[in-house]
Amino acid sequence: MTDLKVKLCGVELKNPVIPASGTFGFGREFNELYDISVLGAVATKGLTLESRLGNGTPRIAESRGVILNAVGLQNPGVERFIKEDLAFLRAKTRVIANVAGSEVGDYEKICARLDGLVDFVELNISCPNVKCGGMALGIKPENVENVTRVAKNALKATPLIVKLSPNVESIAANARAAERGGADCISLVNTFTGMAIDIERRRPVLANNTGGVSGAGIKPIAVRMVYEASHAVAIPVVGMGGITCAEDAIEFMMAGATAVQVGTQNFTDALACPKIIEGLAAWCVSHGVERISDLVGTVKMN
Ligand SMILES: Cc1cc2nc3c(=O)[nH]c(=O)nc-3n(C[C@H](O)[C@H](O)[C@H](O)COP(=O)(O)O)c2cc1C
Repeated sequence: MTDLKVKLCGVELKNPVIPASGTFGFGREFNELYDISVLGAVATKGLTLESRLGNGTPRIAESRGVILNAVGLQNPGVERFIKEDLAFLRAKTRVIANVAGSEVGDYEKICARLDGLVDFVELNISCPNVKCGGMALGIKPENVENVTRVAKNALKATPLIVKLSPNVESIAANARAAERGGADCISLVNTFTGMAIDIERRRPVLANNTGGVSGAGIKPIAVRMVYEASHAVAIPVVGMGGITCAEDAIEFMMAGATAVQVGTQNFTDALACPKIIEGLAAWCVSHGVERISDLVGTVKMN
């Protein structure tokens, strides 16, 4: 029997597999298909102070090996989440509240509200689909450091994960900026900004024109970025981007991720996460790995 447990910022997860923010709602629909208490944790849809209807449609476009989305942070707002979903999720597994805002003060307020109520707060400073400044906060290292510091000061009891944008000059510089600001952990990657064009209409497919690219096709870029970021900081890293199977998850762990998030694959196969958990256990047994945490950061460069 392999030990699948991992420790993230002192918090134990029963395994390293976490559905990624925005691809799992608040877990209720998936819990009708399988008991979501098998998951290491759940990352919620991005929460804002007030509820949001999100962008106009179409919001999702398919392309070979990837999808583009411009959902625009549709969510019920933090108060409804606390009232209606938090107890359900906490009874199942660890809860990562993914949060977003238009300005630094929003992040401060939402972190203060969630402090002590959830297992982790994940700061989405990298959402490319909202015309609200959220993206700008995640690009320049000095802004990353500043918003991280403000969020960290508002969190007395809950560890802070800062989710980095891949649409930046240097992922290592931004990882270090988050660490300087006091992040307990970083997660990456969020989506890459892209565009798909309907050639008959000569217009972008998405109503928002551009959207975030995710799914299997981004995996090698994400693995490279997780490797670079994890070697730039001493805090733990949660890796994601195009994971579809247990072997993909192992790549991220070898690159330096302590835990992994699975996003777009939940749309292709609603049972993706439990299958990946089973696959990890089987891979570890067949490769003589007793503790999955022993794999973290073990890749050696040629
Ligand atoms: C439809 C959709 C909605 C998303 N919403 C959020 C969000 O609210 N907050 C966030 O931090 N990331 C969000 N993401 C990004 C994912 O959490 C993840 O970082 C990204 O999709 C890469 O992983 P994947 O290739 O496994 O999907 C969203 C992704 C998709 C596809």
